[in-house]
Amino acid sequence: MRTQVAIIGAGPAGLMLAQLLHSKGIESVILESRTRAEIEETIRAGVLEQGTADLMRELGVADRMNRLGQVHDGIEFRFHRKGHRINLNELTGGKRVTIYAQHEVLKDLISARIATGGEILFNVGDVRLLDVDTESPRVQFRRDKDGELEELVCDFIAGCDGFHGPSRQHIPQHARTEYSEVFPMSWLGILAEAPPSSPELIYAHHDRGFALVSTRSPEIQRIYLQVDAHDDLGNWSDERIWSELHRRLETDDGWTLIEGPIIQKNIVGMRSFVCDPMQYGRLFLAGDAAHIVPPTGAKGLNLAVSDVVVLAKGLEAYYKQGNAAWLQAYSEICLRRVWKAERFSNYMTALLHRHANYSPFQRQIQLAELDYVTSSPVGLASIAENYVGLPIDWRRS
Ligand code: APR
Ligand code: PHB
Repeated sequence: MRTQVAIIGAGPAGLMLAQLLHSKGIESVILESRTRAEIEETIRAGVLEQGTADLMRELGVADRMNRLGQVHDGIEFRFHRKGHRINLNELTGGKRVTIYAQHEVLKDLISARIATGGEILFNVGDVRLLDVDTESPRVQFRRDKDGELEELVCDFIAGCDGFHGPSRQHIPQHARTEYSEVFPMSWLGILAEAPPSSPELIYAHHDRGFALVSTRSPEIQRIYLQVDAHDDLGNWSDERIWSELHRRLETDDGWTLIEGPIIQKNIVGMRSFVCDPMQYGRLFLAGDAAHIVPPTGAKGLNLAVSDVVVLAKGLEAYYKQGNAAWLQAYSEICLRRVWKAERFSNYMTALLHRHANYSPFQRQIQLAELDYVTSSPVGLASIAENYVGLPIDWRRS
């Protein structure tokens, strides 16, 4: 088999890249180790920056998002029993976020891929990248995990295979630097069958720990609370979860958290990770394969999307004008935006969580910071600008 771009992984990065390339007349084949059902059912985050939602529309894959996604003009920071609204729309000259679950985005992209007749192989096994630093890299794999060993010959490989995928290891250790930070807390996430308690997301800081009220649909709510890093779901009965959420979210103005049957629970670890560079020879990493952010800033999916926008532009310049300069600058352009999202995600994590190791002094600084960003026009504008998504800075050195 031969193609122009071999894409490893059908997450947001791989699927969005395939769609972008298709729109520019560039061929690709997607190789994915999980089944279509697994991908379409895994619960992940759900906040689309303005640029991500715009791209879905430009690519013609936004019908369901336009119908089912919820456009939010603001978010709330809550602390000391009081809410502080951040008006994203006014503070950013008209930008918004769309709340639409990641697995719904994936369903839309998979059906678009199939509708365009593009090759996508699910449930493949033994994926191996070969000759990534030559002009004809190859990928070996087996269909349905145990089929014959097949080979896909290509011009470029896009490593969109997430944090645990094999692609990153093909940048030799001496040629890459990895930056990593693990946070001493986790999030326990629930899906509850209940109507929304709030029209917008609530990020709550409390002495007992952080809580986040998000949503999925008029009937299903997504809610998180900070738990210990090595906590176990077994410690968290439904009663304990609700009672803790009530305490952390309570306000003086009579706001109420609406309960409902909990239909799903999971614990998510919190880490930051960046691999620099994100490219080697003809291999380009995108999304979680190259970087991880803690979920507090809701940036994971959006960063995967901005990476592949940069990659698609580089590939288009290469195929249409024989110009490799944009591909050469891929890492540089991506990492500028990645590091800003890492900064924002770390900032939001530090600002909003309970840190058992903070001294009384650090705790007062944290409270002063919360007070500042929710009362100063400059503080508010900075949160809003980052939350709706920074633009890609296309400068090359
Ligand atoms: N061969 C083929 N596919 C693989 C392999 C492999 N050896 N290893 C992993 N994959 C697949 C995974 O099964 C997954 O479907 O690569 C895909 C990677 O998808 P994601 O992990 O979703 O990563 P990405 O597309 O970069 O999207 C990042 O997704 O995980 C969330 O929070 C994250 O929002 C962020 C976004
Ligand atoms: C979610 O809805 O899953 C969600 C929302 C905001 C975040 C993280 C996750 O910061």
